[in-house]
Amino acid sequence: MELPDPDEVSRRDYLRSLVAVGGTAALSACLDLTGDGGGDEGGSGAPTGDPAERPARQHAWNDALGTDEDGNPRPPEHHVVLALNLATTPDADVRKTVETAFRSLERAYAYDPAGLLFTVGYSPAYFEQVGADQPVPDPEAITTLESPEFDGFDAVVHLASDEAAVVLEAEEALLGEVDEPNGVAMEATLEGVFERAEPRRTGFVGPGLPAQHTGLDGVPDSVPEEAPFFMGFRSGFAESQAPEDRVTIRDGPYAGGTTMHVESLTLQLQTWFEQDSHTQRVSKIYSPEHGEEGLAGDVGEKLGTSTGVAGEIAERTERDARERGMVGHAQKAARARDDDGTPPLLRRDFNTVDNEVPGVHFLSLQRSIDEFVRVRTTMAGEDLAGEGVGQRLNNGILQYIFVRRRGNFLLPPREDRALPEA
Ligand code: HEM
Repeated sequence: MELPDPDEVSRRDYLRSLVAVGGTAALSACLDLTGDGGGDEGGSGAPTGDPAERPARQHAWNDALGTDEDGNPRPPEHHVVLALNLATTPDADVRKTVETAFRSLERAYAYDPAGLLFTVGYSPAYFEQVGADQPVPDPEAITTLESPEFDGFDAVVHLASDEAAVVLEAEEALLGEVDEPNGVAMEATLEGVFERAEPRRTGFVGPGLPAQHTGLDGVPDSVPEEAPFFMGFRSGFAESQAPEDRVTIRDGPYAGGTTMHVESLTLQLQTWFEQDSHTQRVSKIYSPEHGEEGLAGDVGEKLGTSTGVAGEIAERTERDARERGMVGHAQKAARARDDDGTPPLLRRDFNTVDNEVPGVHFLSLQRSIDEFVRVRTTMAGEDLAGEGVGQRLNNGILQYIFVRRRGNFLLPPREDRALPEA
């Protein structure tokens, strides 16, 4: 991918494009623009950090996140999911090098969205290579509508920050291309231990960001100006997210860790925005009642911290299919909540224009991959097809989303994040 022309796009779009392109050239362009890279010392100008301030759980981000005006956790704006393959045989020395590299990043950036939030995960292929039992299964197709590719690389680092320069710089620092991220020396890097693998996933989330991509084929002008996600509606309400405790592994060698599934989807936004009315879109995203009663507002701003789909609206899903000929995505998915109403998944998904196509990297944390499969199956609503809705048609948002790729990972607790079991 080539670097975009800064004179042809807005500043935010330019920064977003630089994250998508990646590499040291994109990083310098980014630092030039944000005004922090002028001197020889480089650096992104973010707050620096202290490893001792990070919690024991890698996935414990909520305490660091800010909140929106309603009190929902606000995800970091910029994301890179870096794929890695092992390039050596791990032993105690190598593990120390890897841990030192991660600690260097924690010194370079604060545990804060203005600094860097990150997690490190390992795939089934990794555990096979080091001769350990596989704590997560190989990824598989989950629904009859998909034939995805699967992540086969060994390890993954999810980097997230409100600053585009930070995710780019942290990535390059890990790979040994930048010596002093944010002005702080890397005491070790992953060079020689891991090498970059494919795919490199990137993305963004936040009010106004999706609407900046209307220049791209497949992103219609009708994406609402203030929408935080491409499909035009708010997501990630506090009440519909699993608490971090609920996704934490309780026993065994990885107690304190979690599992991560990454489902990469492409979106058919043209049809979504141009075929349906706003009421239909609200019905398909949340529930028919939300559409009929005008419960959501333009982009879901009326919903506060809860969609209100859990309970009665979720229980009515099958009847809505039969009687209204339509069911909502959130309504359907909420059927998979625990008996006490707790959602089992902590969704940390974000928008993407990787490969110049609008999409979502649906990154989800849960105690076990089985739980993801169970919720995803419920969301697919294959039980509803023929009951008044089709396999895709009027069955939530299935007509507009296409699964391209899946990956399963184990995120160990922080103290075991460097080459576990090796
Ligand atoms: C392009 C893809 C997707 C979009 C645009 C989307 C959008 C949304 C929206 C707007 C909500 C309601 C807001 C909220 O509760 O936070 C929601 C809820 C939810 N979605 Fe999605 N979603 C997508 C894909 C998925 C996938 C792949 C899954 C996989 C299981 C999923 C699972 C859920 C769950 C579990 C809920 C919460 C239901 C509850 O209240 O218990 N979504 N989604």
